[in-house]
Amino acid sequence: MLGIETTFDDTGIALVRGDGTVLGEAVSSQRRLNSQFGGTVPSLAAEAHRARFRGVLADALADAGATLADVDAVAVAVGPGLSACLRVGGDLANGLAAAAGLPLYAVNHLEAHLLTARLTEQPPPTFPFVSLLVTGGNTQVILAEAFGRYTLLGQTLDDAIGEAFDKTARTLGVDLAAGSGGAGVETLAAAATAPATSAIRFSIPMKSHDSMDFSFSGLKTALATRAATEAAAAGVDAPAALPLATRAGLAAAFQDAAFGHVLDKTKRALAHARAQLALPDDAPPLPLVLCGGVSANAALRVELEAATADAGATLVTTPLRLCTDNGVMIAWAGLEHMAAGTEPVDHVVTDPRLVL
Ligand code: KG4
Repeated sequence: MLGIETTFDDTGIALVRGDGTVLGEAVSSQRRLNSQFGGTVPSLAAEAHRARFRGVLADALADAGATLADVDAVAVAVGPGLSACLRVGGDLANGLAAAAGLPLYAVNHLEAHLLTARLTEQPPPTFPFVSLLVTGGNTQVILAEAFGRYTLLGQTLDDAIGEAFDKTARTLGVDLAAGSGGAGVETLAAAATAPATSAIRFSIPMKSHDSMDFSFSGLKTALATRAATEAAAAGVDAPAALPLATRAGLAAAFQDAAFGHVLDKTKRALAHARAQLALPDDAPPLPLVLCGGVSANAALRVELEAATADAGATLVTTPLRLCTDNGVMIAWAGLEHMAAGTEPVDHVVTDPRLVL
């Protein structure tokens, strides 16, 4: 299965065998391009996907020691994502499948994130499980009862968690060329000394709301406001010019509140899922599958590990390199569809607002 991912700012292509063996893969990230423009510009991102597609395909095939003639089926992410970017992958998948007469599978990008652990983990998590998806575009907690039977338990009401990390990175002057905004905030937070951390605190969002939804926009604004106040007090032009200790304290306080919020809502979701599934007290632990780019954060993993143990669940993480967008997860989701008997399509239609 050839998997094609172009939903946002990574061009990812991979070749995966039916038994889950990753034969070859390649990803081209637009991080450097984004850092020049302070974020993703959809038309430029789409253009970059178009320009890079041929090279990424060649790299993935070379990695597999294969040619296009070895491909038996094509899967492509059709949404959600940026409309112009999705169309590039969709058009190319339509063209490849039509030219070679191959079966074509339309894959939901969110479902692909959710299923990745079934490819990478031994033994693979079996249904039912709860998935916590934390990316730059989404923050969702989902009950996956069976393949194709997903219940959205909660989602962000405003910004995605990764988006809040990225904005915080820009506010605090993190060098985006050196890695993602989120990774930069994590590194900065780790440099915080105890007194700096305790001096700055943000309240945990939606603590008193009896829901499983998330909100990060208030926290993002609280961080920006406090950073501006600190900059004014220190007599510097912008928060990015603050001393390292202050910026680190701000990053640590932001991260603490963001993850406190994630933990709070995830614990609720796990309790809700156990009740919805009518699991008896002595049922085996429910897997909590953590996926999406923000799950690369080591502090989040450590906190979730402890919280899941308390909530009768086990944390299942996906390998770091497959946490960000990639072609492997799309190919694997295509294979899961094939195995489940999903009919291939003649051509795919992309949908920027596709839901699970
Ligand atoms: O899943 P992903 O590659 O893309 C989508 O949004 O679909 O996730 C990217 C997000 C970005 O917002 C990035 O800043 C965040 O994941 N991220 C992190 C870390 N590494 C990446 N956030 C917090 N801590 C990290 N270590």
